[in-house]
Amino acid sequence: MKLQNKVVIVTGAGSGNGRAIALRYFEEGATVVVADINESGANETIAMAPAGSKGMVIKVDVTNPADVEKMVSQTVQEFGQLDILVNNAGIVAFTPFLELGVEEWDRVHNVNLKAPFLCSQAAAKEMIKAGRGGRIINITSVEAHRVVSSSGHCQPHYNSSKGGLFMLTKAIALELASHGITVNAVAPGVVETPFTQKGLENPEVKEWVLERVPAGRVGKPADVANAVVFLSYDESEYITGSTLVVDGGWTIH
Ligand SMILES: NC(=O)c1ccc[n+]([C@@H]2O[C@H](COP(=O)([O-])OP(=O)(O)OC[C@H]3O[C@@H](n4cnc5c(N)ncnc54)[C@H](O)[C@@H]3O)[C@@H](O)[C@H]2O)c1
Repeated sequence: MKLQNKVVIVTGAGSGNGRAIALRYFEEGATVVVADINESGANETIAMAPAGSKGMVIKVDVTNPADVEKMVSQTVQEFGQLDILVNNAGIVAFTPFLELGVEEWDRVHNVNLKAPFLCSQAAAKEMIKAGRGGRIINITSVEAHRVVSSSGHCQPHYNSSKGGLFMLTKAIALELASHGITVNAVAPGVVETPFTQKGLENPEVKEWVLERVPAGRVGKPADVANAVVFLSYDESEYITGSTLVVDGGWTIH
């Protein structure tokens, strides 16, 4: 219960990693805004929170600047402050480079890169106004650092959006450090969520993944959530502009 006085927004909290992150914050006593474009998923998440938890659901399209402004102002109106933002909402699409259309390129970059920019800017303005510092945590991917190549696994737009978010994390960290706001990234490897479910149901894909992960198992959303919460503690105040890789050792080799 180290985050009892903190108010957190988690985007994409209606499923997978975002849900696990929101639930982990609830366990730590934080007040959590469960933000997602999928309202029913967000409602399911909040229903799973321990009894007595404080929080609310906000339906938001994180690519829409007006929605993002509203998400932040509603949070502050309801709970009086905003201490932590987790930019977790993300989408994936598999299309080889030569077949990739501009519409799909834009869709992936809008959710994975433009939205963290919009949400971080709106949240940082509020954090600076309050003068209490803050935390921004971006969920990137090991694919910000390397292209995972297996047959049919082509996602140059996903790679570039997550690589962009890796650098955006550093650039914002530099600008916000003097305000006591840290900005870090968590880069998961393969984690079992609806995002990867279809692939992992294929025994060949699962074997391909397991052969590469020294820890010998696929990641769990809780693995990601634990890293995010660690970066949220007051004790983590000297960590900024960093990426914490949570991949069971995949990218060691
Ligand atoms: N699962 C993995 O293996 C893995 C690996 C590396 C990184 N990640 C990253 O983790 C994050 C979460 O992925 P996940 O696996 O939990 O996926 P998921 O599909 O289970 O959840 C993503 C959530 O984001 C929400 N979302 C999508 N577009 C949105 C929008 N415009 N506005 C608001 N919400 C929106 C969805 O409704 C969904 O609830 C993503 O950023 C993803 O890139 C996942």
